[in-house]
Amino acid sequence: MSSAIKISPSILSADFSKLGEEVVSLERAGADYIHIDVMDGHFVPNITIGPEVIKKLRPLTKKVFDVHLMISPVNKFIKDFADAGADIITFHPEATDNMSETIKIIKDKGKKVGVSLKPNSKIELIKDYLERIDLILIMSVEPGFAGQKFMPSVLNKLIELKEIIIKRKLKIDLEIDGGINFDNCNSAKKAGANILVSGSTIFKENGGDLKKNIGLLRSN
Ligand code: DX5
Ligand code: ZN
Repeated sequence: MSSAIKISPSILSADFSKLGEEVVSLERAGADYIHIDVMDGHFVPNITIGPEVIKKLRPLTKKVFDVHLMISPVNKFIKDFADAGADIITFHPEATDNMSETIKIIKDKGKKVGVSLKPNSKIELIKDYLERIDLILIMSVEPGFAGQKFMPSVLNKLIELKEIIIKRKLKIDLEIDGGINFDNCNSAKKAGANILVSGSTIFKENGGDLKKNIGLLRSN
């Protein structure tokens, strides 16, 4: 795990009528990754985009596509997202009846494996798989919508995971997603997060000055 903080702006808060331009602007503004939220109206109560859109965005940037799948059952769609150009494929344990198989499908496509824990999901759900995953995405809101309020109670999970990672000498990135702003980003970093996802703060604060907002999340 690298100690430098990475910023992964969520395009959920972008203007979907000019999504390609928005992705290019994020790259120019200093984004490390591009966070792509995929929702199916079944695993979460909202619908966003699928692999076809990701495929169209792929030629526009070399940035890592950090794809957060909030869809269930997840296995049958992984190949499509991998082929569309996802670099990291993150799924929720509740969205599969066979975690081991889901991890294998992602790895067989040569992609990085992420698992995501909702605010009430316990570390126990993933603890047997830590040797095989690259990233843990801690949700600090209930998945489904941008612009919700950060839940500080999830920071304990980050602290606990960071301890496990150090103790077991694992190489796992810790990413936090939901309600991240200029005030709480430091507590997330202190708790162990090395990748910050942000939608509303990056796209809406300071008149939508992407560069300034990405910089502030990195330095605050
Ligand atoms: C929520 C998504 C988040 C969300 C982040 O289900 O996973 O990525 O879009 O948006 P903000 O930063 O506005 O909470
Ligand atoms: Zn997300």
